[in-house]
Amino acid sequence: MVLGIETSCDETAAAIVGRSPSGAPVILSNVVLSQVEEHAAFGGVVPEIAARAHVEAVDGIVRAAMIEAQVGFGELAAVAATVGPGLVGGLIVGAMTGKAIAAAHALPFLAVNHLEGHALTPRLTDGLAYPYLLLLVSGGHSQIILVRGLGDYERWGTTIDDALGEAFDKTAKLLALPHPGGPNVEKRAATGDPKRFSLPRPLKGEARLDFSFSGLKTALRLAAEGAAPLGEQDVADLCASFQAAAAETLADRIGRALKRFRETYPTLAGPVLAVAGGVAANRAIRVALEGEADKAGVRLVAPPLALCTDNGAMIAYAGLERFEAGRADGLDAPVRSRWPLDERSQPVVGFGRRGAKA
Ligand code: KG4
Ligand code: ZN
Repeated sequence: MVLGIETSCDETAAAIVGRSPSGAPVILSNVVLSQVEEHAAFGGVVPEIAARAHVEAVDGIVRAAMIEAQVGFGELAAVAATVGPGLVGGLIVGAMTGKAIAAAHALPFLAVNHLEGHALTPRLTDGLAYPYLLLLVSGGHSQIILVRGLGDYERWGTTIDDALGEAFDKTAKLLALPHPGGPNVEKRAATGDPKRFSLPRPLKGEARLDFSFSGLKTALRLAAEGAAPLGEQDVADLCASFQAAAAETLADRIGRALKRFRETYPTLAGPVLAVAGGVAANRAIRVALEGEADKAGVRLVAPPLALCTDNGAMIAYAGLERFEAGRADGLDAPVRSRWPLDERSQPVVGFGRRGAKA
């Protein structure tokens, strides 16, 4: 059993993951405390507030995870904590907590990449075999990653400016909808006309697999200014038009990525596209992805939402796989605010401007 601790953004989370006698992964506990309310008044995550909140919460969250799983520290095989990428203050809190527990109980420590946690989640939830294609769409990342094996990732596409979740959040802010924006934009979009405003589909039709959402955001702002003063219906129509543009853009990129995936592995049985990140909760986006997956003859796997968004179980599971592969880290493992999964991938223009959320 491995204890996993996650503090890279605005969730303080801890979980215990082990294996059943048959070898299947089992989540024994998964405790997540969201700081959404602490940050709501600021319309986004404030790093200093996040770090302080993690300090206050982390011990209690770890204790809760241990109690829920009914295990003692002595029964653990190892301790894992997210050490990057993310907000450094939070990362230090989680990493120090994990290292202290590991040192006190003479356990191996695993320094986990948050993105690896997301990338391996479909193996935890659906027992996927390598390789598979992953779409990670969250508040800090929009990436298409080929997951070839443990520690073996190839980034096929990333955003050259804003992440998709960030674009949803900024849309919400512009339209004075509450934070976090994604779910609120989706709610309002339900009663809106997606065709009322014609917004761009950035990079659509281009061969590269990267994303760009800042032009869409600007077009939305201009459309909103043009329609001001905004009534309820205007807001709904803007949300629906934005969501449709986002879904269509995503579908275009994923359609191309799936084609490349099929060409890379022409004989692979049961090819899979897995999704992770909070934006994967969006119905319109799921429908668009399902359409592309169907066209390509690929199965779409979407883990339950609680495991798509930030949580400790994904860190514990990534730690478990690494531990089983004999890859423990020293207590001197540093935290890293930036840490690409695919170390060979070059930063694209504008990349790293943000990187607070992963
Ligand atoms: O994965 P996540 O919980 O946190 C990280 O970013 O790591 O993702 C949060 C992001 C936010 O930007 C939020 O607005 C977006 O996911 N999101 C959504 C929806 N639910 C959450 N975006 C669109 N539609 C949704 N239903
Ligand atoms: Zn994340």
